[in-house]
Amino acid sequence: MSDFDSQLLHYLPQVLRTNELLIQCPGVSLFFLALGFLTFAKFTVKAFGVVLQTFVLPGTSLKKYGAGKGAWAVVTGASEGIGKEFALQLAKKGFNVLVSARNADALQTLVNEIESSAPPNKNVQAKAIVMDFSKLSDESEWKRFEGALEGLDIGVLVNNVGKSHRAPIYFTEASTQEIEDILTINVNATVRVTKMVLPGMVNRKRGLILNMGSFSGTGIASPMLATYAGTKSFLSTFTSSLAEEVKHKGIDVQCLNTYFVVSNMSQIRKSSITAPTPKNYVRAVLQKVGLACGALWTGRPNVSTPYWSHGILDYLMNLIGWKMVFIRYTHGLHSNIRKRYLRKLEREAKKQ
Ligand SMILES: NC(=O)c1ccc[n+]([C@@H]2O[C@H](COP(=O)([O-])OP(=O)(O)OC[C@H]3O[C@@H](n4cnc5c(N)ncnc54)[C@H](OP(=O)(O)O)[C@@H]3O)[C@@H](O)[C@H]2O)c1
Ligand SMILES: *[C@@H]1O[C@H](CO)[C@@H](O)[C@H](O)[C@H]1NC(C)=O
Ligand SMILES: *[C@@H]1O[C@H](CO)[C@@H](O)[C@H](O)[C@H]1NC(C)=O
Ligand SMILES: *[C@@H]1O[C@H](CO)[C@@H](O)[C@H](O)[C@H]1NC(C)=O
Repeated sequence: MSDFDSQLLHYLPQVLRTNELLIQCPGVSLFFLALGFLTFAKFTVKAFGVVLQTFVLPGTSLKKYGAGKGAWAVVTGASEGIGKEFALQLAKKGFNVLVSARNADALQTLVNEIESSAPPNKNVQAKAIVMDFSKLSDESEWKRFEGALEGLDIGVLVNNVGKSHRAPIYFTEASTQEIEDILTINVNATVRVTKMVLPGMVNRKRGLILNMGSFSGTGIASPMLATYAGTKSFLSTFTSSLAEEVKHKGIDVQCLNTYFVVSNMSQIRKSSITAPTPKNYVRAVLQKVGLACGALWTGRPNVSTPYWSHGILDYLMNLIGWKMVFIRYTHGLHSNIRKRYLRKLEREAKKQ
């Protein structure tokens, strides 16, 4: 007889006794049966909802926000990466686009590309504002920015500009300048641009605001990117609060919970299942406006995880619920990324 069999024989009388108990107390057994059923039903309904939103249901049509009717889309941090893709794809959907970042040449090239690739029957305009969002104290710069927005019928605002640490680093070792820049760009500048745009949207009774969140702020805390994670967490709460304030005024506000995307910031050059290209990522976002997808019913209203693999990850992590495991994993991951980054710096130094 195996160990398992002998153990089973040992416990069998107890199992039978439990059964008897349940028969003698139908109220108790019914209660536990109902509890089990409800738990299972909740799990099934949730999984079904996530799959339906991620793979089947279309999001809100961008026409609601004025696509093709002369409305503008404002995209910050648009000279490359995810922001540039937002500008290109929103123009294709029929918005005029205003793009902003520091690199004037890259912005001009983008403006030309948008205007020249617009279909002849659609008159899509584009303009650029060169702006350094880390220089918040420069009031004259902000006046110039506000001047460029004046009189525009803005239907969409993508608060995309964001800064992270150059590489993962312990908070105690990070430079004060880098920490301040991250706070200024991710929090202060985002709040300021929103304050410039939202009142006009309220007057026109239509608008969409997309805030670029991150798993580090909305899902799993992020050791060695503490300041960055904190700013993204701010965006998530800012979004949920603002969304409720303006939802009856025809305005939708969403925080995009994002895992890795190929870009200069992520330093991922090759796309994979979990790290899409900006093009595929932005396409998913614009197809799923107004849906929560992987973030559905996770206690984070108006947070959305629209890219399918990110959504499944988000759903699974919330299902498992044991955040500390993922936080420790992230710590290890970032520690390795830092080591590789330091080795790369060493190699580059030797070459010179
Ligand atoms: N890539 C990812 O894996 C990932 C994951 C989660 C969230 N996100 C978020 O997605 C957003 C875009 O990131 P990305 O990956 O596309 O990064 P990226 O390719 O490095 O692009 C960043 C953009 O922001 C602009 N920018 C940076 N500092 C600026 C400043 N001080 N003033 C004005 N513009 C500035 C850059 O242009 P200039 O250099 O010309 O100024 C560039 O256009 C960020 O908010 C980021 O936190 C990214
Ligand atoms: C951010 O804005 C607040 C409030 O306006 C200001 O007190 C703070 O100095 C700003 N922080 C940075 C890092 O610019
Ligand atoms: C990538 O980012 C680094 C700093 O984060 C910057 O020095 C470099 O110019 C960027 N590369 C491109 C192609 O924009
Ligand atoms: C915001 O969240 C509320 C509550 O879950 C929901 O009713 C509303 O449709 C959401 N709006 C957007 C734009 O996601």
